Amino acid sequence: MDWNWDYVFWSITSILIPLLLLLHFHRRRSNKNRRLLPPGPQGWPVFGNMFELGNEPHKTLMSLKQKYGSVVWLKLGSINTMVILSAEAAAEFFKNHDVAFAERSVTDVMKSHGYHKGSLALAPYGTYWRIMKRIMTVQMLVNKRINETVDIRRKCIDDLTEWINNEGRINSSGGIHVAKFIFLASFNMLGKLLLSRELVDPKSEKGSEFFTAMVELMECSGHQNIVDVFPWLRWIDPQGLRKKMDRGLGKTIEIVSGFLNERFEELERTGEKKKDFLEVLLEYEGKGKDEPEKLSDQELILIILEIFLAGSETTSSSIEWAMTELLSNPEAMDKVKAELTEVLGNTNKKFEETNIDNHKYLQAVVKETLRLHPPIPFLVPRKAIQETEFLGYNIPKDTQVFVNVWAIGRDPECWKDPFDFKPERFLDLKTEYRGQNFEFIPFGAGRRICAGIPLAHRMLHLLLGSLLHEFDWEIDNSLLDEVLDTQDRMGVTVRKLKPLKAIPKRKNKTL
Ligand code: HEM
Repeated sequence: MDWNWDYVFWSITSILIPLLLLLHFHRRRSNKNRRLLPPGPQGWPVFGNMFELGNEPHKTLMSLKQKYGSVVWLKLGSINTMVILSAEAAAEFFKNHDVAFAERSVTDVMKSHGYHKGSLALAPYGTYWRIMKRIMTVQMLVNKRINETVDIRRKCIDDLTEWINNEGRINSSGGIHVAKFIFLASFNMLGKLLLSRELVDPKSEKGSEFFTAMVELMECSGHQNIVDVFPWLRWIDPQGLRKKMDRGLGKTIEIVSGFLNERFEELERTGEKKKDFLEVLLEYEGKGKDEPEKLSDQELILIILEIFLAGSETTSSSIEWAMTELLSNPEAMDKVKAELTEVLGNTNKKFEETNIDNHKYLQAVVKETLRLHPPIPFLVPRKAIQETEFLGYNIPKDTQVFVNVWAIGRDPECWKDPFDFKPERFLDLKTEYRGQNFEFIPFGAGRRICAGIPLAHRMLHLLLGSLLHEFDWEIDNSLLDEVLDTQDRMGVTVRKLKPLKAIPKRKNKTL
């Protein structure tokens, strides 16, 4: 979270005029309310605590637990914010107050073109959200359908191996930018699963027009926006982010609309249905009360965009962290490689999805990575539907909630040696990331838990298993400090601040 100069300038100038008036009322009101709210740092009048968060807010907020406890109250500009910092408080939140906080807090840029209404992740808690969640979790992202698409992911992994091979040869001194390749592969995978389209050229690893437009969109949506803490600045759009998003999202909507038209024309011409996820959306027929008969074109388009937004960056950032941790912890790297050799042998046999269950240590590596580096450290922020009593506090309607899963994953009350990368800890534990073990919820929990867990599970293991099975990885000595550096930066996800570069060496395998 970079507070750049135009951000600070606009914050200060736009506040000066109402400041004196508000100061008086703010003091009176906050003194009255404070008794009922969770404890937290006092903050500045009007600005509240917004400048205290820094570039790594998940870390800053974790440090507040010692002084204020598991539930902390902040004021971010004019926005009431509750932060949850312990597994017990998270359990209470998801088990007993899930419905009261089932709404999402939506940033201004995500309201562009009505995105928040068509997106499952941001949609108001109601009929549309229920329909979409059901389609995704019961028909689309279920094991049966995912099993039918194993070959598609296999082909994407083969392409990835080829890209790395080529790049590795060309750029063998400094190494390759690992996350860039994983992002391309994840995006390509989602394109084929969802639309049966090649969105990255398999020969040149160059992204399509749609790929480029989506990358711009992700950058824009991950930017800190003053409008989100002072909503009355919306009409000025001081950082121009809304304008940029309107333009970028408009372009992607146009492209996907073209994809849809092509699909309709093809269906009319050939009468053949595809077996991809789009087909599931097209086949939807509403039967229940209040359900629409079919999904509208706009809804189809936004849900397609949603799947790319939700599934590509999260996956690539997790794999970049997994590789970083393994390269920084040679013992763990040796163990995971030994397991791959033991299960697959030193032959041309590939790492296959059907093999995931036989790789217990690899699974532990993925879990340990998600414990230390959950890509969405505050989950997708929730919002109070109504005034709610929570752990004895009186939480006002519309309060936004950050569940700091980054802090919970490193809480010494839950984890031994919490800051160390020790996949072994998961070998003896029955802890899963499916929203039941509240000390480990990188995919969230409750009603709004991630809809893509079964697919994410496959993609993460397949990508990491294949990278480690196909290549030996080395670090250029001059880059050692960068690799070991675990600082991160906030965007759509929390990414490694200094991108991982590593040298892939193709393994010599017997036929
Ligand atoms: C490493 C991979 C992934 C991680 C760590 C991740 C994490 C998350 C998190 C933390 C949430 C918010 C949960 C909450 O608020 O309690 C979420 C929501 C969501 N995710 Fe994922 N996700 C991943 C991959 C995917 C994939 C591959 C898809 C789809 C193909 C997907 C689709 C969604 C959707 C649709 C939601 C919104 C659910 C709702 O609001 O009801 N995610 N994800």
